[in-house]
Amino acid sequence: MGLLDRHVFPRLNDLLLGRAFEGLRSELLAGAEGRVLEIGSGTGLNFAHYGASVEVTAVEPSDFREAPRARARKKEAKARVSVAHGKAEALPFDAGSFDCVVSTFVLCSVRSVEASLAEARRVLKPGGRLLLLEHVRSRDPGVARWQERLRPVWMTVFGGCDPTRQLGPALDAAGFDPDGVEAVDLPLPRLARDGVMGVALTKPR
Ligand SMILES: C[S@@+](CC[C@H](N)C(=O)[O-])C[C@H]1O[C@@H](n2cnc3c(N)ncnc32)[C@H](O)[C@@H]1O
Repeated sequence: MGLLDRHVFPRLNDLLLGRAFEGLRSELLAGAEGRVLEIGSGTGLNFAHYGASVEVTAVEPSDFREAPRARARKKEAKARVSVAHGKAEALPFDAGSFDCVVSTFVLCSVRSVEASLAEARRVLKPGGRLLLLEHVRSRDPGVARWQERLRPVWMTVFGGCDPTRQLGPALDAAGFDPDGVEAVDLPLPRLARDGVMGVALTKPR
């Protein structure tokens, strides 16, 4: 386990995306039902927000899924939670295995948004739902320009997080209806305040 994975990224993650997001996480995950796949679960900040009847399978490529706080959150969860190594772009599950896929602050970090969304679509049952809470490229052109300028430094400091991504067209192309995903203001500094949150339904094939 590297120094950054063990000490720096888990703390940074919990500092920036912890307490201030509990309300939004609860609101989003109240909609999670049945067999749920959470991609990029990090230190497990979502685990406490699932209902007791939910069965959660989480995948996380980084070693910080093994960090003490991630293990503790798994134990404290009301839902049954298992965590495995895995990447969103190549999910080790059969097609049609899950009722919901959850992604919170992950699509900014994956290598390919298109491949990750295609995989989410593949593993969802017909009528399955993608629950999203993500930060995206700013809707303010002036802020977006700063995001472009700072992108290389930002990606180094925040473990590969790209502040300039847009998700609407990619959702549509992957076979999701983006209408249930709305713009939200996140409790973050201006450069990362523009977010999206909601439920994208699978479109019939
Ligand atoms: C900003 S953290 C968010 C963690 C967690 N989802 C949360 O809401 O607190 C981004 C997470 O995405 C994970 N990640 C990066 N690339 C990934 C990939 N290709 N597939 C799945 N997860 C990935 C990182 O390891 C990290 O845990």
